[in-house]
Amino acid sequence: MRKKIVAGNWKMNKGFSEAEDLITEIADALEEVELTRVDVVICPPALYLEMATDIAEESNFSVGAQNVYPADSGAFTGEVSPTMLADLDVEYCIVGHSERRKYFGESHEFLAQKVDALLAHDIIPIFCCGEVLPEREAGIHFEVVKRQLEESLFHLPEDDFRAVVIAYEPVWAIGTGVTATKEQAQEMHSYIRTLVLKRYGSEAANEITILYGGSCNAKNAKELFSMPDVDGGLIGGASLKSDEFMAIVLSA
Ligand code: PGA
Repeated sequence: MRKKIVAGNWKMNKGFSEAEDLITEIADALEEVELTRVDVVICPPALYLEMATDIAEESNFSVGAQNVYPADSGAFTGEVSPTMLADLDVEYCIVGHSERRKYFGESHEFLAQKVDALLAHDIIPIFCCGEVLPEREAGIHFEVVKRQLEESLFHLPEDDFRAVVIAYEPVWAIGTGVTATKEQAQEMHSYIRTLVLKRYGSEAANEITILYGGSCNAKNAKELFSMPDVDGGLIGGASLKSDEFMAIVLSA
């Protein structure tokens, strides 16, 4: 059975002690529950990764980075390498988030390089894809997502591809309070699985974890996660409060 994941993308939020409190609260809450079907991933800002992995060592969650630069070292001022993430026992890294595509102009090709760099260090990419509103309104959302996958993931050999987690995040749903309906999510997730089937075959298609992201919260998570091709969520705003995040984790 494929893995379910609930991942919290904190984005650029929380001071250090707030972050430490939140992670500790989540770690404590996770001790009280028995999770057999879902992996929990926390993706704090890069400066807090070491603190997070220290706490994770004694707890039942994994730590993810929000970004990486695709080189092991060098003159890339301000960047963080996959080697550095691996040194800290970071297990996941978000790649291709719409905010990075939009504000930092990250291209399909650059994202493919990040995916390769992470996999070379056994870090699992959480690869984000999704259309903007005008693309959905124009009815080209399937083509947009297909291109994102083809250009940044489908160059991978099957073994590497099978390590990747995909997150479908319709950009119009991110941080807007407008969630995709469960039918819209299911339709795209099943389309993505079909693309994987065509490219890598049925085993890979059955095994790949496909998360939904975009205004997913404690109220709508259960409904979204009940869809057959939705394997959990990538949670932004609602991951910043332990009670709400835990309610989402328990919905998976
Ligand atoms: P949101 O963000 O849950 O706040 O909409 C999701 C994301 O950007 O990953």
